[in-house]
Amino acid sequence: MRAVQCTRWGGPETLTFAEVPPAALRPGEVRVAVAAAGVNFADLLMIAGKYQENPPLPFSPGFEIAGAVEEVAPGVTAWRRGDRVMGMLPFGGYAEQVVLPAERVIALPPSLDFAAAGGFPVAYGTAYGAFAWRARLRPGERVLVFGAAGGVGLASVAVARVLGGEVIAVASGRERLAVAEAHGAAHLIDSGSEDVAARVRALTGGRGVDVVLDPVGGPAFETALRCLASEGRLVVIGFASGQVGTLSAGVALGKNIDLIGCYWGAYRDGADAARVRRAYAELGRWVEAGKIAPHVAARVPLAEAPRALALMSGRTLAGKIVLVG
Ligand SMILES: NC(=O)c1ccc[n+]([C@@H]2O[C@H](COP(=O)([O-])OP(=O)(O)OC[C@H]3O[C@@H](n4cnc5c(N)ncnc54)[C@H](OP(=O)(O)O)[C@@H]3O)[C@@H](O)[C@H]2O)c1
Repeated sequence: MRAVQCTRWGGPETLTFAEVPPAALRPGEVRVAVAAAGVNFADLLMIAGKYQENPPLPFSPGFEIAGAVEEVAPGVTAWRRGDRVMGMLPFGGYAEQVVLPAERVIALPPSLDFAAAGGFPVAYGTAYGAFAWRARLRPGERVLVFGAAGGVGLASVAVARVLGGEVIAVASGRERLAVAEAHGAAHLIDSGSEDVAARVRALTGGRGVDVVLDPVGGPAFETALRCLASEGRLVVIGFASGQVGTLSAGVALGKNIDLIGCYWGAYRDGADAARVRRAYAELGRWVEAGKIAPHVAARVPLAEAPRALALMSGRTLAGKIVLVG
């Protein structure tokens, strides 16, 4: 099979596209013919050797895929050849085939096509984990989403809205904000031209928001702290700015706020598998009910993965970029 390969640490230009031996199918596993693989900011970190869990070289990047089951190990009864599925991996999704443990395979909601499904598990799983599990968002609460035109950000706008939140979306560029609006944002703030904290104060009558979702860090984290209401919760998702925010315990005490971490990848294994499956089952019902509609910003051929990563870094599109076979 062919796969995108990282053979040395570096930027997207260092990736190669090569013939590699397919992984062996071990007991309990399922082989999937990949139709689409989601592109994530963390792929850039991993190929640069800067992710929190880097595999040894050489490897294929890629945290998520969708496709059709090709082969199941003897004894696996939950899946059959031809089933339409999606799933998350520690790496390896930028390939024509992947092998996954059967319990981590997720059935595709019938109305999702492969391209939308290839970019679904990370963004929507993380958004669900952030609001339903970690922040315990309640209907009517005000939610501020930074990076709202990004992969996780746009999914977070949609998920917070379904859970009853009133969403304020922050992103750079009016066209990208219009996509956030179409996914459920009630208010839009252009971080390229507006004072985010001042707009939030005006929108909330000076009170601030109940929950902030921050995938950006750095200056966004500082602004997030200023935008929180008393008893507000700040959910830290990532650091797309390259800067990790810091919170003094004194500020947490003085403002009566919670700092909440959410790392969806940590729920991938073992004890959490059943809970994760229930989360995706609920997300699937929302897809079928028309409550969420994953947005594909661009489909790029697998062989052109460096171009897909450059498109994501360019910050001109909204939603997920997906590699297709
Ligand atoms: N915790 C988890 O489980 C989890 C899961 C998935 C992703 N993440 C993390 O969440 C972050 C976003 O991931 P993603 O895949 O959604 O990325 P993405 O699609 O590239 O979105 C990131 C957004 O961050 C904003 N941004 C601000 N400063 C930036 C900078 N210097 N460089 C790039 N973007 C910048 C951009 O919005 P504007 O252009 O509008 O400013 C961009 O749309 C990453 O740090 C990733 O590692 C965490």
